[in-house]
Amino acid sequence: MTETTTRYRNTITQAVYKKLLKPLFFRHDPEDTHDSMTAMGVHLSNYWLGRALTNAMFNYRNPMLEQELCGISFINPIGLSAGFDKNAELTDILPDIGFGFAEVGSITGEKCVGNPKPRLWRLKESEGLVVYYGLKNDGCEAIAQRLQGKHFSIPIGMSVAMTNCLANADIDLAIHDYAKAFRTMEPFASYITVNISCPNTAGGQPFIVPENLERLFVVLDTIPTTKPIFIKLSPDFSMMQLDTILAVLAVHRVHGIVCTNLTKKRDNPHILDTNISEKGGLSGKVVKELSDDMLAYVYKKAGKRFLLIGSGGVFSAEDAYKKIRLGASLIQMITGMIFEGPQIISQINQGLVELLKRDGFATIKDAVGVDAIKN
Ligand SMILES: Cc1cc2nc3c(=O)[nH]c(=O)nc-3n(C[C@H](O)[C@H](O)[C@H](O)COP(=O)(O)O)c2cc1C
Repeated sequence: MTETTTRYRNTITQAVYKKLLKPLFFRHDPEDTHDSMTAMGVHLSNYWLGRALTNAMFNYRNPMLEQELCGISFINPIGLSAGFDKNAELTDILPDIGFGFAEVGSITGEKCVGNPKPRLWRLKESEGLVVYYGLKNDGCEAIAQRLQGKHFSIPIGMSVAMTNCLANADIDLAIHDYAKAFRTMEPFASYITVNISCPNTAGGQPFIVPENLERLFVVLDTIPTTKPIFIKLSPDFSMMQLDTILAVLAVHRVHGIVCTNLTKKRDNPHILDTNISEKGGLSGKVVKELSDDMLAYVYKKAGKRFLLIGSGGVFSAEDAYKKIRLGASLIQMITGMIFEGPQIISQINQGLVELLKRDGFATIKDAVGVDAIKN
């Protein structure tokens, strides 16, 4: 398919999504809509024709977007963030939607039903979501069973977290829980992300305390693996917290940092909706600036030591490009796809190629961090 045909195809798909499907979806409960979309994705992935049609509607490739990072080949830098495919049910269809990689989970040591419903809300004015799932997932053993014998055509990261239960207030038990999820999911992972920044769990975020983080990685370091290990940070950390966390991570087996998770803060000028839930973390355009600021800070502080993955508020090629120029080698997204439609992945990738050409870069790698160095 030529660049022009792809552009026409995406414009038509975008119009169908925004004028027909989105108004329909947005009339229904967000969690029900998400569950229906997951079921449809699983259904499509079960048939060759379903996958081929999806691919024809959404795929886009360009060698300028290809990268080799931490020994993994990425066909493009746009990945699905953790939290959309909590139980790793969509790994067969995500490549056909155009993703260059995907992170499934977060997956915990034990099955968890999550927080009581409702636990997902749309912020229509702010173009974000309020997320209060509380790490709902089937648990590492059931998910590992589901993935037995699967062959992935794009890199699949496994996001691991501690089970959302009161028992994990005990740090030793919480570490054991992380280690169980890590060990169980490791054989299936292209990379593993340790999520220490879920804003919605019973025990809070005990591993943002440097001593606890140190204890966690002392244990995780002993689990045999050759896979890259990333960690996911909260955009709400202060600079001082971030500095101490980076100092701990620097001496452990950590290869990359995901900047960032959801924000809990409500004093955010990008919140345009009124009466939003007091519970939960905020995504999309609400978290974008916080994520970008943290990404830029981490790149300047530790960009040589860690690979950076930018996550938070990506709705366009310009948003993704900004994160790349601030220091991200890879990008993750969820909310932009919900507000703009799944063709946005192809549109971002095609837009990135145009932006790279405009600025005289031959590949993504050449653009990583150029703005951070200037500041
Ligand atoms: C519905 C939903 C569920 C999420 N669940 C998780 C999760 O289980 N683990 C995790 O690390 N991040 C989770 N996140 C955070 C996302 O991975 C991402 O960091 C955040 O949404 C910012 O990206 P976005 O603005 O593109 O959505 C979740 C986000 C959403 C919207």
